[in-house]
Amino acid sequence: MAKPLLLVFALFVMGGLYAILAPSDVSSADTTKSQQVEAGRKLFAVGCSSCHGLNGQGSSQGPTLVGVGAAAVDFQVSTGRMPLAYPQQQAPQTKVSYNDDEIAALAAYVQTLGPGPEIPSASQYQPSGLTDEEVARGGELFRTNCSACHNAEGAGGALPNGKYAPSLVGVSDKHIYEAMLTGPQQMPVFSDQVVTPKDKQEIIAYLQTLHERPNNGGLALGGIGPVSEGLWTWIVGLGVLVAFAVWIAAKGAKAK
Ligand code: HEC
Ligand code: HEC
Repeated sequence: MAKPLLLVFALFVMGGLYAILAPSDVSSADTTKSQQVEAGRKLFAVGCSSCHGLNGQGSSQGPTLVGVGAAAVDFQVSTGRMPLAYPQQQAPQTKVSYNDDEIAALAAYVQTLGPGPEIPSASQYQPSGLTDEEVARGGELFRTNCSACHNAEGAGGALPNGKYAPSLVGVSDKHIYEAMLTGPQQMPVFSDQVVTPKDKQEIIAYLQTLHERPNNGGLALGGIGPVSEGLWTWIVGLGVLVAFAVWIAAKGAKAK
């Protein structure tokens, strides 16, 4: 008789505790969020507003950040592109100026200016358990959508007007995902409608295999392609043969 009563009592206590604790959990999550946004606003005023305007509305020195989203801020700041030191052709990757908490705060603040792509979670950008066919499909997607600028092996390449598409070797999975999501500078945006989240994972998996693949000796020539690599073999190989032939001929002439 005592046991069921005890159970009922325990359930009451649990329910009561939940009722007391749960709402305060939500509101404390809310306050941490608004504290983070507030911290971001302060960091932004000091480090970014000179170019992007006090409310991120943009100025002659930098574009508006309304609607670029947290993902763009995370990408730009955690690759060290922002804050830009001085106006220049293309924001280069430099030393990262903020720690992770500060970057999260800046991103949260900019997200409040206007909704844009959120920072992707690890489950979104980390390709796991993909089959060989899916990785191969990632290679196809890469060659169709990316290689024109970044080269077939992701080694990077020059673009018109002194700009360039950087090498993708060693770029983190998260930054690859964010780059596709936000399209920094000359790079187009690959929205989830065009390149689905699954496609993006496959592209990332392909890039991983590409850059983990050992170089099987020889001069890689930056993977400029079989035709030009073959051409090199021809020029160098034939050159050596011709030189050798000339040398033999010269020796033969002397021997006479
Ligand atoms: C010296 C001026 C300057 C400063 C300081 C600066 N930016 Fe920028 N920012 C630019 C310019 C110019 C661009 C656009 C061209 C580019 O990306 O190179 C840009 C682009 C961006 C973009 C990409 C926008 C898009 O459309 O995707 C983000 C996000 C950004 N800045 C965030 C920041 C943050 C956050 C800070 C402060 C930590 C900051 N910037 C500081 C000049 C600046
Ligand atoms: C029209 C040319 C173009 C195409 C197409 C393009 N990119 Fe880019 N990409 C760029 C440029 C330019 C940058 C450098 C932007 C900057 O410096 O802010 C860039 C930057 C990147 C970066 C950041 C690298 C780093 O060092 O932080 C990644 C990752 C990336 N691209 C991946 C891709 C993928 C994946 C695709 C295909 C889905 C793609 N790009 C298609 C031009 C292009």
